[in-house]
Amino acid sequence: MAYEQNLDTGESYVAMDLFQPPTAHREAFARALDRAVRKIGDLIPQFGLRNPRISVPGTHQYQFCTADEWVASFWPGQLWLAYVLTGEARFRNSAQMRLPYFQNVLERPDWHDHDLGFLFSLSCVADWKLTGSERARTMALRAADFLAARRRQPMRFVMCWNPMRRDDPAFAAQKPGTLNIDSMQAMALLFWAHAQTGQASFAEIAHMHLQTSAKYLVRDDGSSFHAFEFDPRDGSPIRGFTHQGLSDDSCWSRGQSWAIHGFAQAFLHSGRTEYRDMSARMADYVAGKLPEDGVPLWDYDLPADRHPYPDTSAGAVTAAGLYLLAQGFGRSEAAVRYTALADRILAGLVEHHDIAGLPEAQGLLKEGAAFVALDRADNMLPYGDYYYVEALMRAVGHTEFFW
Ligand code: GLY
Repeated sequence: MAYEQNLDTGESYVAMDLFQPPTAHREAFARALDRAVRKIGDLIPQFGLRNPRISVPGTHQYQFCTADEWVASFWPGQLWLAYVLTGEARFRNSAQMRLPYFQNVLERPDWHDHDLGFLFSLSCVADWKLTGSERARTMALRAADFLAARRRQPMRFVMCWNPMRRDDPAFAAQKPGTLNIDSMQAMALLFWAHAQTGQASFAEIAHMHLQTSAKYLVRDDGSSFHAFEFDPRDGSPIRGFTHQGLSDDSCWSRGQSWAIHGFAQAFLHSGRTEYRDMSARMADYVAGKLPEDGVPLWDYDLPADRHPYPDTSAGAVTAAGLYLLAQGFGRSEAAVRYTALADRILAGLVEHHDIAGLPEAQGLLKEGAAFVALDRADNMLPYGDYYYVEALMRAVGHTEFFW
């Protein structure tokens, strides 16, 4: 079922020869992947040029992105994965019709933040990898330039969030000095740009950001802070805190998942084992915190009196990251262990949260928790859907993606 060729140039896009231990649920995962690809195809005419944002509460229908949304690339990312799997032009065409959306983002530097990584890896890097499009490559390199330029002295990381008019004034003031864990996924765009151009600063900034994240965002027990505040005057550390998790001292499950996936990617890009081992430490923390069905609740430190919303997006990102991590260990007991943990989470998603088979559903997974404090729980989320497809593909043996 896997296309292992660039369908336009005839070249193989499977660049790495990585070992992926066999999953225990291959047939169930392959069936879920087929269902997902059928659903993505069915949604093309429903969505037109719109990109899903979050579901309308109480429904399996999506609301759609405006011109400036961090989640806009997760639908194109799914279209590109479906193109990898089927080779059907409708998936490629539908993804490519969205290039003007991303061109517009590039032209608006006031909109740029660390989400340039999500936005451009899953749209333009994907396009370039699969079709050889020079326009997409140029756009992705411009995005990487903008992202790298967000490293500002004296901070040892890429600035993540921008102060916004709607922010509480104290939070707005904090933002220029704040590192967040979501940004771990953005480093792949810098590694890609380094590989494309040979410009050392892309990789140097990525390593600086990763090392600062490892030092300040990850706690000794392998759990994580959502964010860490530094003094913008001299870069000195102040404190870890949360924005979307339960509390400053708790572990927000999606944040943990961004880092598991991000550190594992960074290892595969750089070969530096410190990143793989950090991802493993964070995965070991998760292994002891999963509920019975294997799908994380929205925070790993939820007390019994709080509503136990699952976060299927955290589950999907974690599962994809664990397969990636397993690859990083080669043929070893650790690879088998992390594959089994990924299988456990993914099997829970397939059995209990997959809604791709429902004719009315405009997404793949129910019960994502975008931001519980703002009552955004029990939603379909486009990033949950994207990483679900990525995890299913990794589970059945794919090793080359757009990160
Ligand atoms: N802002 C990224 C997230 O909600 O995970």
